[in-house]
Amino acid sequence: MYYQYKKQFQQALVEWFQKEKRDLPWRKTKDPYKIWVSEVMLQQTRVDTVIPYYNRFMKEFPTPEILAEAPEEKLLKQWEGLGYYSRARNLQAGVREVVENYGGKVPDNRPEISKLKGVGPYTAGAVLSIAYNRAEHAVDGNVMRVLSRVLLIGEDIALPKTKKIFENAVMELIDTEHPSEFNQGLMELGALVCTPTSPKCLLCPVREFCTAYNEGNPEELPIKTKKVKTKSLYYDMFVVQNEKGQFLLEKRPDKGLLANMWQFPMIEQNSKETHTNESLLATTYQVELINREKLLTFKHVFSHLVWHMDSYIIGVKQKGDTPENSAWFSIEEMKELPMPVPMQKVWQYYKEEF
Ligand code: ADE
Repeated sequence: MYYQYKKQFQQALVEWFQKEKRDLPWRKTKDPYKIWVSEVMLQQTRVDTVIPYYNRFMKEFPTPEILAEAPEEKLLKQWEGLGYYSRARNLQAGVREVVENYGGKVPDNRPEISKLKGVGPYTAGAVLSIAYNRAEHAVDGNVMRVLSRVLLIGEDIALPKTKKIFENAVMELIDTEHPSEFNQGLMELGALVCTPTSPKCLLCPVREFCTAYNEGNPEELPIKTKKVKTKSLYYDMFVVQNEKGQFLLEKRPDKGLLANMWQFPMIEQNSKETHTNESLLATTYQVELINREKLLTFKHVFSHLVWHMDSYIIGVKQKGDTPENSAWFSIEEMKELPMPVPMQKVWQYYKEEF
């Protein structure tokens, strides 16, 4: 794009957004807390998936004060199925800072809002521009794709240092009279028109200003190097039921993947071991195995990791106490516990088939 067209570009983008924007629940509010929650949920998660989570979340935690007070388990239960659960924990930590240090009012400037736990440059800019109408950049993958095409930027967007180039470009281009609609217009254009494959250039409100459309090939941008291959792990997962009809669950460690969530016991498959995973299960949890049936075999993909699961239902007699961080639960009690999606999947299958 040529910068003498900046004003026309802004106007075309903002007008298109006003006319074509999707009717989304977080677009009915200017409450910075609600915008913040929506932006955290929308990181790495599709709009269609987020909508019901956002609505439930706002019913349960309508204000920063209420979220700040919530027990972590209740928060994780609300987040169950959205993935990237550290987002939820960081959000709550950030919201607690707002309640304690800012009287419950989300800061309206970048230096202060950026100090909050879990608030990176993107989230800061999104809240400042959308809720407070401040002229601040909010650059995510969608925005980088749009601008790599409009401005013909060929830097590798997989490199962290590339983001700065796009942030500077937004600060140069942003409509200072309509920052909220300008930034949301870029996001919306990336979601609806300027898509990763087969961009709909003929429907694009800014194609006359788009350098890739006029001089190159939009589909070849942005440049993004391949990420390293994901690692595979192989597990047996045991749905263990005792003679009282209770189920055995263990709480994951409070750091790392799926921290503090509850799961059916999992044991890594390792053909070199002399003991079977069933006998390991029996000694670890002090149970005597009575019967066993195969449940599902499936895989679950995380961002850098794939779990390959074989799952079993095991009937047992309890012989002694379970180790720390594990316990027996009734079906009613299990409903209150946050469980990762792979466990939900097996549990659903078990309830339908048995
Ligand atoms: N993706 C990130 N932020 C968004 C928003 N505010 N609306 C729609 N999609 C988004």
